[in-house]
Formats: sequence, C-alpha cells, structure tokens
Amino acid sequence: MFDEQLLKSLLAAEKHLHGDSNLPEVPTRDRSDLDSILIETADRLRDNDPYAHPFYLGQMLKPPHPIAASAYALAMSVNPNNHALDGGRASSEMEKECVQQLGAMFNWENPLGHLCSGGTIANFEALWVAREMAPDKAIVSSAHAHYTHSRLSSVLGVPHRSIPVDSTGRISIDGLKRELDQGDIGTVVVTMGTTGLGAVDPLTEVLKLREQYSFRIHADAAYGGYYRLTSKLDSQTEAEFTAITEADSIVIDPHKHGLQPYGCGCVLFRDWSAMSVYKHASPYTYYSSDDLHLGEISLECSRAGAAAVALWATMKRFPLQPGGEFAERLQCSLTAARQLHSWIDQQPKLTAIQSPELDIVCWAINANTSAKSSSLARQFFEQAAQQDLSLALIHLDRSFIEERGIIKEWDTDQLCCLRSVLMKPEHLEWMPKILERLNRVSIP
Ligand SMILES: Cc1ncc(COP(=O)(O)O)c(C=O)c1O
Repeated sequence: MFDEQLLKSLLAAEKHLHGDSNLPEVPTRDRSDLDSILIETADRLRDNDPYAHPFYLGQMLKPPHPIAASAYALAMSVNPNNHALDGGRASSEMEKECVQQLGAMFNWENPLGHLCSGGTIANFEALWVAREMAPDKAIVSSAHAHYTHSRLSSVLGVPHRSIPVDSTGRISIDGLKRELDQGDIGTVVVTMGTTGLGAVDPLTEVLKLREQYSFRIHADAAYGGYYRLTSKLDSQTEAEFTAITEADSIVIDPHKHGLQPYGCGCVLFRDWSAMSVYKHASPYTYYSSDDLHLGEISLECSRAGAAAVALWATMKRFPLQPGGEFAERLQCSLTAARQLHSWIDQQPKLTAIQSPELDIVCWAINANTSAKSSSLARQFFEQAAQQDLSLALIHLDRSFIEERGIIKEWDTDQLCCLRSVLMKPEHLEWMPKILERLNRVSIP
C-alpha cells in the first residue's frame, strides 16, 4: 500500500495543509521508540490472512484504496470530529458533499443522511427512525437478511418477524403478504445483496404491496448498494436496484465496496422528516452557528472527520457515475463471479447454490448425506488454503437447500457449503490462476 511516492505525496499535502499557519511552531514530540514499536506492531499484524491479495476470496474483506488511506492519514494531522462544525468545519462540509453524492446515486435530491461507523449503526438509525415514524408497529426482514435487523429491533423494543426466503434466497413475496395481512407491519426491510449469497430482494414487488398496504421500506444496501452504478446486472436485478429510489431509507457501506477503511457506513433518508426524531439538546454540546451540524442528525456523537475526508478524496478519483471507471471495477467482480460459477457448473462433484446476482458465489459438495457433504466442504476449504487460496464457509438451512437434490439423505439441519466473495476487481485478472489452484483440490 505505502511506497516512497505515496509518502512523498502525503508529506507534500501535509505541508500544503499547515504551511501558511501564523501560529508559532510546536516542537515535534519525542519519537525515539517509533521504529521499534512499529516493527513490534507489524509482528503482531502478521497473524492475518492476506486480505489484499486476489487469492483471498473468502469474506467481505479488502484494503482501502491508497487514496483513501492517504487522505485519512492527512486528515489525522488535524483529527477533526464531525459532531459539530466547531470540531470539523471542512470535514463536515466534505461529509455533506459525500452524502449528496451517495444520494444522487439513487436519484435522491438532497437526502438527509450522514456517515457513521458501519452498516450496523447505519441500520440501527434507520430502524430507530422507522420505529418513531410508525410506533407500535412491527419490523420484518427476510430469513437471509443480516442478523442485525432482528437484534437491533430487540434493542429498540420493536417486534421483529422473519419472512422466509424463496428458492433463490430472496424474501418470499407470498410470505410477506401473509405477514402484511396481520395488519401490524410498520417497516419492511429489503436487502439489496444478502451477506451470505448476495441475493437481491424483489423490491419492485414489495413496492406493489406498499400500494395496497401502507408501510415504510428500508433498503439495506450495505453490501450491494454501489451495484446501482453498473449496467451489467441481469435485467431483473437491475430493476430492483433502480427501484431503491422509492425506498424511505437506505444504508450503504463505503467500507465494503466504496474502497474505504473500516469505520465508514452511511444512512440516508429520502426526506428530512426524520430530522424531528434526532432532535436533542444538551448543555455541553457546542453548536455555535445556525448551519447544520452533523451531530444534530446523528445518533453517534463524536465521529471521525477523517472518514469523510477519505471518502471525499476517493470520490474525486472515482466519481459515482453510472458506467464510469468505478462501475467498471464492480463489473470486473461480477464477471469474476460468473466465471467461478461456470467453473463450478463444470465440476461433476460440485453444485452451485445460486447463479450469482452480485459477486458472491456459494457451492456445495455432492454427497449422499448432509454430514458427509459438510465434512467434504471443510476438507475442500482446507485444501484450498494449502494452495494459498482463502475461501469461506457458510451454513445453509436444510429447508433452503433440500429441494435442490444435492443431498440424498439429511442427517443434519444445516449444510456446510463453500462461499467466495469476489469483491476485488483484480479477481477477474487472477481468475485463471485461481481456477488452476481450485482444479488442484481433490474431492474424494
Ligand atoms: C447486508 C448487510 N447489512 C448489514 C451489515 C453489517 O454491516 P457492518 O459489518 O458494517 O456493521 C452487513 C455486513 O456484512 C451486510 O452485509
């Protein structure tokens, strides 16, 4: 990530940032231990998988873009706090611009929103606002939605019900309709790219139901949101992403597909009515002007201004344009996933769980019993690791898998399958090498 050129650019930018200060210089603090402590730190950090390498195709992990890392480091020399303009004037303005650009990606003009520490907190705020807007009503999400929705509902004291998924891992519209018929649903969470399979809920169908029953729609696009920019999704998935514009709130995580270091989620509300929910007063808060301080519309108090600076700088390099360079990078991930899926289809002992809608591919090992298949999946995972390929495992419910006929006899409630997240654009270029190594994995 860091090379001499990058460090040189960073030093030049820091000089530019502080160069014309009228304040007397403060002597640099003692740094005599820096080298040894950094080496010790590096030693400790070695115990990690090589997330940045294209051979890492396991979980949703990738390093930030060097622009994001450098801009974050640059902002560290100020360490702004985006709670109030007083703690981070410039970085708060940059955050507001980021929010507008993220909103524009979904055709939202002037949404209410802010960055936050990640998808969980962003969803928490969206569900909190949903509860305040529809008190005494329940929240529903699919059985494949992120676990955070049921947990956050319980934190908020809101009843939560889980809707079954269809055979593709999307929320069942019949199941949803049955729940809506109960008459107590205030909010439907649609997941635009599930964590496990990358399945995209049928938002277009959910919108039709909203005409009949009245409810809020919250789109959890923490993982998939940026795919709105690509034109190479299958046409139905594309229609679902286009429909996000009609949601009431959206969560998107720049620290997943947006090239940011961890600590960068985003919640957006289509209109500013949510602002009334955030209203608070405290004797120690220091809003010194009538301009919008982000702390007035955020549940978290202190927030890293550096996260906003990093995202802002990254979007200078990669504007969120449909079909632009950033969209093309996502397209590489899609193509890589499709290539891995085709490879699985050609293997007599493997069965793909689904056609990848996004860049996540899951597959099972054909076997007589579910216990045997699960054990073979673990062996496959280990053997791939011996080839330096990092995959992931996923446990899928029998009810979801059974009708595929991969397993003759079920002796467990779940099936352990292989899972691969191809979220780095480099995965495409490296796919021949990845497949060559997967070909070396032998299944007994
Ligand atoms: C769809 C979805 N929602 C929410 C989350 C939680 O986000 P975070 O881990 O940033 O808190 C994730 C994480 O993987 C996710 O995939």
